[in-house]
Amino acid sequence: MPKASMLSIGAYAPPKILTNADLEKLVDTSDEWILKRTGIKERRIAENEVTSELGAKAAEQAILRAGIQKEQIDAIICASISPDFFCMPSTATAIAHRIGLKSGITAFDISAACTGFIYLLELAKSLVESGAKKYVLIVGAEKLSSIIDYTDRSTCVLFGDGAGAAVIGANEENEIIDVHTASDGKYGDLLITPGCGSVYPSSDPLTFEKRLNYLHMSGNEVFKIAVQTLTRDVVEIMQKNKISSEQIDLFIPHQANLRIIDAVKQRLNFTSEQCVLTVDKYGNTSSASIPMAINEAYESGKLKNGSLMLLDAFGGGFTWGSALLKFGGK
Ligand code: UT7
Repeated sequence: MPKASMLSIGAYAPPKILTNADLEKLVDTSDEWILKRTGIKERRIAENEVTSELGAKAAEQAILRAGIQKEQIDAIICASISPDFFCMPSTATAIAHRIGLKSGITAFDISAACTGFIYLLELAKSLVESGAKKYVLIVGAEKLSSIIDYTDRSTCVLFGDGAGAAVIGANEENEIIDVHTASDGKYGDLLITPGCGSVYPSSDPLTFEKRLNYLHMSGNEVFKIAVQTLTRDVVEIMQKNKISSEQIDLFIPHQANLRIIDAVKQRLNFTSEQCVLTVDKYGNTSSASIPMAINEAYESGKLKNGSLMLLDAFGGGFTWGSALLKFGGK
């Protein structure tokens, strides 16, 4: 059975920066509040680019770095909560078309909110290790500014736009060791974009009057469950694989809030050198946050061939998950 590996990473952040000072002009907030409660200084906003364009730029970089030809990719899977279109066509097919992947390949989207990239890893690993596919391109792409209510101070300060991508293929030396994904639908209402589905259809004017087409979050409740769940999940994957925190080269958590990251980091004894942070400059980019952070580690030289990474994420659904892998890229 072939072993699956992350052969490369790529990312793209749109150039426009929205600072905390800019947000002070939009809602009743302050740089001090945002920094203290979240660690976020700024986030990126895609002004003239749609989700599939962000994803395409990250994907192009990942393919180039994998050293393979586009014709060799035989599946693309995209995770997004801010896709190009509400139900179809998928953002994966749009990215495949934009970057010129061959006609006939498998292409589809998944919905797992901020845990999207961990779900993608599990899917891609299964496809490669079963022998069904040789090279799988996975993309987390978000134009969250298209579903954020810039009159709601409790959410608009948190989120940003961006994309990250990876090529998954066979590599015996540096495998994706383990991936764990999970969910519990009873918390669905705590983090939700309620409108424009079958419950609050876009045909009902109340959907827009009540601003249900935007993302809504009960932040404080999400926060507490996120810290507990992430800590438990990371402990479980390390115990299962008999790995201790000192053996991990890079701990790369979902970048939602610096306080959540710090709480998990302290409970698990990770050092600041092990922990990758991008939340200060990108905010929460949902499914793109982990691959953007992996890319940051790669470009800064911290992530090398064979580096042992521990990823963890938590998001709407609720969904959560973790992954333990050795980087197979050069
Ligand atoms: O990616 C998926 C997972 N998402 C997360 O993990 C996010 C989890 N939640 C969080 O990160 C935090 O809960 C928030 C950053 C969203 C909020 O921080 P908090 O410390 O939980 O604040 P809070 O919601 O308890 O609100 C405290 C106060 C409230 O005022 P009162 O009721 O105490 O007078 C809010 O109205 O802060 C107020 N507040 C703000 N003040 C200034 C809420 N948002 C803002 C704001 N600026 N932007």
